[in-house]
Amino acid sequence: MKKVAYINQKIDSFNSKIYVPGDKSLSIRWVLMASQAIGTSVAYNLLKSEDVFSSLKAIKKLGINFKINKKNCKIYGKGLNGFNFKNNTIINAGNSGTLARLIFGLLVKSKNQIILKGDKSLSKRDFSRVIKPMRMFGQNIKAKNQKLPIKIRGTNYPRPISYNETKGSAQIKSCILLAAMKTPGKTKIKSIPSRDHTEKLFKYLKLPIKVSKGKKQDFITYNGVKNYKGFNYIIPGDISSSSFFIVLTLLSKNSKIIIKNVNVNKSRTGIIDILKIMKAKIILKNKKNYNGEYIADIFVKSSSKLKPINCPLNMNSRSIDEFLLIFLVCSVASGISKFSKIGELRNKETDRLKFANIFLNKIGIKTKITKDSFKIYGNPNLNLSKTYKIENFDKDHRACMLSFIAALSLGGKWIIKDIDSINTSFPNFISLLKNLGAKIN
Ligand code: S3P
Repeated sequence: MKKVAYINQKIDSFNSKIYVPGDKSLSIRWVLMASQAIGTSVAYNLLKSEDVFSSLKAIKKLGINFKINKKNCKIYGKGLNGFNFKNNTIINAGNSGTLARLIFGLLVKSKNQIILKGDKSLSKRDFSRVIKPMRMFGQNIKAKNQKLPIKIRGTNYPRPISYNETKGSAQIKSCILLAAMKTPGKTKIKSIPSRDHTEKLFKYLKLPIKVSKGKKQDFITYNGVKNYKGFNYIIPGDISSSSFFIVLTLLSKNSKIIIKNVNVNKSRTGIIDILKIMKAKIILKNKKNYNGEYIADIFVKSSSKLKPINCPLNMNSRSIDEFLLIFLVCSVASGISKFSKIGELRNKETDRLKFANIFLNKIGIKTKITKDSFKIYGNPNLNLSKTYKIENFDKDHRACMLSFIAALSLGGKWIIKDIDSINTSFPNFISLLKNLGAKIN
């Protein structure tokens, strides 16, 4: 694949219906959960991206077979004790924080040692967030500076834990839940709300999970060890991938889009709520339940006269992967937008708060940044004409795709490097843009 893209003109008006690929969080969870089922599981519309291929390769290394073709993906699970691998087997999680964090949970009882590695970006990220609860279960972990590569060996006698999850991280919560599946007794988690796909999948599989929602925290328990059979699962479209097209449509003139069959789980739709507060024209239609998750079609129209936002704190986890796009929309809003307690953005594939600050300044937008807050001074007349070079973003797929959306909606001449990073989550992103009429070289 080519590594650099050139964009020299805005996209013309469009009026289209599109489908985005399957949800990344659900695809990775399906792979991991299917690897623990007894018998064959089948997924339809599994995301075929690098993070998901890393997940499939990981379970293969742990002794679980799979077959993938155009129509579906099959995983041949052997139950909760079905892993079989040699001592010091290497698992490479690539760029996937979700795979790397969740796999700790599945290895809570493994006899042999795993060496967990990742790419350059993942090797810079912090793992203390899962090391701490997993050591409480009794897992043996050897890590330098809490970073990859990490050596993981399970315990014969995992102990159920009570854990207070304070970051609003679904990866931490899910890692603990996967370990709880293999641990006798009752595991208890108090957590700041975050995406709840693992809980919903557990309920869909009738596993012994209980969730009660408090005002500011969720209370989750998982009780006992229960095997489950292979299962079929349809993976809905990814709201995070859809968001690039939502924002492109909002910021382009006289355009409309319908994005079909998107997962609109409430813990993921913060971006839609935020953009609606900003007076964006977005409507969800045809909502229906799909394997315990909600899906809908998203209707979006070009929206000028966008208002700034003082972002409510309860949106932070609900739009954690969409902030770069939200910041771009704030750049053309009629006033100052404010975000606080968003320090978690610094712990993503790249430091997204730092990246956003440099990016917005580059396109002439004034900002104020602190350790965990951000202010954006919007300019509704923003129209770009200079040359913008986007590089050194730790190959963060979302930073890369943001640059395409800015280029196509705001103008100017753009040189975007490391575009192969897009394969992490959204391999047909550029071809979908081209189908809408975008000129990309
Ligand atoms: C994810 C959780 C989020 C998100 C990531 C996917 C998941 O990370 O940013 O892209 O699938 O559980 P955190 O749990 O670190 O917030």
